[in-house]
Amino acid sequence: MQQENEEFAVLKFRDKEVNLPVIVGTEGEIAVDIQKLRSRTGLITYDPGYGNTGSCKSTITFINGEEGILRYRGYDIRELAEKASFTEVMYLIVFGKLPKESELKEFEHDLKENAMIHEDMKKFFEGFPANAHPMAVLSSMITALSTFHPIPDDPSHFRQDIINLLAKVKTIAAYSYKKSIGQPYIYPDPNLDYVGDFLNMMFKKSPNDPYKVNPVIEKALNKLLILHAEHEQNCSASTVRMVGSSKGNLYSAISAGVSALWGPLHGGANQAVIEMLEQIHADGDNIEKYVEMAKDPNSDFRLMGFGHRVYKNFDPRALILKQAADDILNELGLQDPLLDLAKRLEEVALNDEYFIKRRLYPNVDFYSGIIYRALGIPKEMFTVMFALGRLPGWIAQWKEMREDPDFRIHRPRQIYIGETERPFVPISQR
Ligand code: ACO
Repeated sequence: MQQENEEFAVLKFRDKEVNLPVIVGTEGEIAVDIQKLRSRTGLITYDPGYGNTGSCKSTITFINGEEGILRYRGYDIRELAEKASFTEVMYLIVFGKLPKESELKEFEHDLKENAMIHEDMKKFFEGFPANAHPMAVLSSMITALSTFHPIPDDPSHFRQDIINLLAKVKTIAAYSYKKSIGQPYIYPDPNLDYVGDFLNMMFKKSPNDPYKVNPVIEKALNKLLILHAEHEQNCSASTVRMVGSSKGNLYSAISAGVSALWGPLHGGANQAVIEMLEQIHADGDNIEKYVEMAKDPNSDFRLMGFGHRVYKNFDPRALILKQAADDILNELGLQDPLLDLAKRLEEVALNDEYFIKRRLYPNVDFYSGIIYRALGIPKEMFTVMFALGRLPGWIAQWKEMREDPDFRIHRPRQIYIGETERPFVPISQR
């Protein structure tokens, strides 16, 4: 699919001049291939935060941050969010094509068959303190999962590892919630679809509780998980690739991805947004005060859920979620003062010169927390929900990397700016 290209870029430095090949993506993005730069010139590149570095070639996700385009395997996110189920999107992302009916049936069957975790794993949950953050539990339990399953480093085993993770992480996520509120664990129910089963494991209070999954909530959660399912080389996906590049197993790479997602500058922002809105609400809805704080270079405060490394006009997921938040609250007959507050905050920020100049817009996390609240999901679980959605994306990134003919262990270079060589000073003379 990648175009052959005869063009090249010229780099001139001191007495050296080199032609560097260029790679053109299917959507026209051009990259200078610097793989031979150091061996030919002695130079390396410097790009803190990797904002300008293409770390791989990928066929999974296309983003155009200027125009607010997001596509999984060529399909527009708006269409997928409207028309597909989360399991269909999982299949699409991981295996590269929309499943036929029989393929989807087999895939969903495999997910149900593998949804139980080993009974002994329940003992691990018991060891965590009740107030443990569910992201810490999730990441630990995914690593623990690897001890219950053989993990030969053999591509013929990849499918089973992938199914294990897709099937069991939702059980682990629900159990981590049950553990935190002291309710009994509810086993996966093969009569329910993936998302319905997750809700059942979360909200059924006991095996005898006649809880029934609300179809409005199930549909809304399907949409949220689809919107979070993949987002190319972000912090957590790059972490998954980095860990996986040592040929460590899939479980350890995904566990590392969960840890990377947890931080407030990444997936942890969804919890941080709600906490920020609660704080502003408790402070008399004084939006201007918080906008001023976010603009103050002497304050660490940022408007959570605002800004994105790639989207510089709008995040298409945020637009879908803003509308979805209204629809879902209406359908459930709920009112949430935080939704009104979020909309007013968005309006103030979008009309403020500081945010306009820096092209800061609401991102996916700005409205997702309000929807999770409406679905009855507590804020400590928000980032776990993100992880559940992002799981197929991480897996696809790992699989693509392992199947890439250019596969190499990831190992960036650095520019050393420390002391040059100096003699050791004995402790008595320091
Ligand atoms: N509030 C106030 N100012 C901001 C914000 C914000 N949310 N985001 C960026 N800025 C400012 C920075 O202070 C900086 O200003 P300066 O040029 O005067 O120094 C400028 O905008 C550029 O910001 P960077 O931090 O360089 O942008 P970067 O691309 O590195 O960071 C990020 C992107 C981490 C998303 C950032 O916008 C942020 O911290 N947002 C809040 C946290 C958040 O919502 N994270 C979720 C991201 S989406 C996701 O991971 C799912």
